[in-house]
Amino acid sequence: MPTAETAKLIHAFAALADLGEEIAATRDFDQMVRSTLHVVLGALGIRRGAVAECDAAAGELRFVAAWGMGDDAPASLSFDPRLLEESLRDSADPAHFFERHLKSNFRAELERLKVGLVVPLVVHGELVGAIMLGGKATEEAFTPEEREVVATMARHIGVGIYNHRLLREVERRAQENRKLYEDLRAVYRNTVRAFAIAIDCKDKYTQGHSERVGKYTEIIARELGWGEEEVDDIAIGGYLHDVGKLIVDRDIINAPYKIDAKQSSELNRHPAAGFEILSPLHQIDDVIPTVARYHHERIDGRGYPEGLTGEQIPLCAKIVSAADAFDAMTTDRTYKRRKEFPEVVEDFRKTTGKQFAPEVVVALFSAILKEVDGETRERRFARLLGRDYLQPDLYRPLIVELLAELGQGERAAAETA
Ligand SMILES: [Fe+2]
Repeated sequence: MPTAETAKLIHAFAALADLGEEIAATRDFDQMVRSTLHVVLGALGIRRGAVAECDAAAGELRFVAAWGMGDDAPASLSFDPRLLEESLRDSADPAHFFERHLKSNFRAELERLKVGLVVPLVVHGELVGAIMLGGKATEEAFTPEEREVVATMARHIGVGIYNHRLLREVERRAQENRKLYEDLRAVYRNTVRAFAIAIDCKDKYTQGHSERVGKYTEIIARELGWGEEEVDDIAIGGYLHDVGKLIVDRDIINAPYKIDAKQSSELNRHPAAGFEILSPLHQIDDVIPTVARYHHERIDGRGYPEGLTGEQIPLCAKIVSAADAFDAMTTDRTYKRRKEFPEVVEDFRKTTGKQFAPEVVVALFSAILKEVDGETRERRFARLLGRDYLQPDLYRPLIVELLAELGQGERAAAETA
């Protein structure tokens, strides 16, 4: 028959076993430490106690949980971090340092806090913290069994703190990596944009064309529900779609008159050339070279270079094709003024299904409609087209009508129903 004391201890061990599971499962570190402390204080009949985490670099024992320590208990106890370093050179066991230096260092403070028992938390040779306990309510000394309970709890909390630190470190590194990755992508994007400007330099009529195509491409892909990274990639495809023009004679690109058949076939080499230039990028994503290769294909098969039809044309190329045409219609060229918006709508109405893919045109004009209706905070079309170009009051019905006709604009269909 176990004595009441032994029964209490058995109970405490059972509670600690449960806590072991909690420590493994819990995400709330402070809560875990508090529960553990409570179990032991309760099991041993102790009125006050605390758990501190050790910050070796700062030379601090920082209290994570405290019970009954009084309002004036400090938030942390400081020590000289060099002392720990020195001590670890003499003995690899930090408990040694704890016994020899810390206890005497903190003696006055511990006495003031009425702490009788201090146990270091050492995991894998690292001092991760300490447990401090006041005397028992009965004022009796701790029995060896009770000291064993405290030691078990020390291992639990020590491992808990250790794992928590690892987790924080892993999270910190993950965040660092994320930032590095984002920086790298920003550098990549900016390099690509610089390159797009270089491509446009060759064509004196289409300043900024590649960059705008990149932006329209991004808007359409996002409207189609593409993910962030896919959008990034196809936007780069948009920026670089005409990179093949770098191998075409400048005089042909800049010819102010209609070019002859020979010059035209020279110009029509630019998609294949662009594909070749961008193919080495395929380890990143083959969307980029694919866009360059097929952005002049048409749904009806009358495009170039391969005369693909409908489903044969990759969606990414269909998107850039529409973005390319939209910018060509909406910007001035030296030989041609830009079209007014109603003409652009009419143009797309006639060519969708022949030249352009309906779902892409629907996405483009749905995005415009959202901006016209003030649903998007960013005024991207207004910025790219000029503030007065879209004239919402006048032209909104045209957009709605086009979307209804293409049969896929959900809201447009609802409005005309
Ligand atoms: Fe092109």
